[in-house]
Amino acid sequence: MRVIHDVDTMQGLARTRYGQVSTALVPTMGALHEGHLSLIRLAHDRAEQVDVTIFVNPTQFGPGEDLEQYPRPLEDDLAACRREGVTTVFCPQAGQMYAGDHSTLIAESVVSEGLCGRFRAGHFDGVVTVVAKLFNIMLPTVAVFGQKDYQQVCVIQRMVRDLAFPVEIVVAPIVREADGLAMSSRNRTLGADERARALALSQGLMQARADVAGGERDARRLEQALSRALGKAGLQVQYAACVDADTLAPVRAVVRPTLFAVAALVGQTRLIDNVILQPRVE
Ligand code: PAF
Repeated sequence: MRVIHDVDTMQGLARTRYGQVSTALVPTMGALHEGHLSLIRLAHDRAEQVDVTIFVNPTQFGPGEDLEQYPRPLEDDLAACRREGVTTVFCPQAGQMYAGDHSTLIAESVVSEGLCGRFRAGHFDGVVTVVAKLFNIMLPTVAVFGQKDYQQVCVIQRMVRDLAFPVEIVVAPIVREADGLAMSSRNRTLGADERARALALSQGLMQARADVAGGERDARRLEQALSRALGKAGLQVQYAACVDADTLAPVRAVVRPTLFAVAALVGQTRLIDNVILQPRVE
C-alpha cells in the first residue's frame, strides 16, 4: 500500500494509471470505523484498485465547530486500510490542499440549502470544493459515499452532473451498531451517558418507519413525534424533517419514498441519521 502526502506525487501517479486501470475512491476524514470499511469493501466490487483519502477538511467546518477536536488516529487508519487491501492512501496536510491565499469555492445552491445547510453555513461549499479537488487529484472511475450523509451525497451528485465530472457516484447503506446507532467518527467523542441517550435517534427513526408501514402518512405528526422523543432523551434537536428523497424539498405527506432526516446535539456532539420511509401500498 502506498501512502502519499503531497498533491503532485498523487496526481502524477493517478495520471500514469488513468485509462489503464479502474479505480474506486473512498474519500474520508479518517477515524475509520466499520461504516468506512463497508465503503472500502463495496469499492473493491466496483474497480480494480481502491484508493482512500484521509483529510480533515477545514473548509467544511464553521466557526465554533469541532475541527480541532475531530479525531485523527492516522496510524490506526493506515493499518485498517492495509488490512482492507487498499492500493493507495492519500493523506495530505491542509497546507498541501489549500494555498494560503486560496480563493476558489464551488457552491451548490438547491439541495444544500435545507436540513444541515440551515445550521452549518458554508459547510456544503467546503464539501463539494474538496471533493472536486480530490477527484482532480485522484482521477477515480467511481467514488463511494455513505447514505448516512444523505444530503452530502445529493450535493455531490449535483456537482458531478452540473460540472460533468467523469466519475460514477456509488451510495452505500448506513452501517449501524448492534443496538441501532448509526456509525460515525463522532460517536467516539460520546461519554457513556451520551452514548445511551444518542440511541433515541435511531429508535425514533425506526418507530417512524413502523408507523408509516402501519399507515401513518402525516409528515408533521412524524416530525413532532421524533422531536418529542429526542427532547425527552435530553437531545437538542436541530431538525427532524420529512423531505422528498430526490429534491430534499419538505413534504406534507408520505406518499412516495421519503427521506426522514434528523440532526441533534448530544452534549457537544452533533449527530445525524436518516431512514427512507416507504408508504404502505393500499
Ligand atoms: O463525509 C466525509 O467524511 C467528508 O465530508 C468528505 C466527503 C470526505 C469530504 O471532506
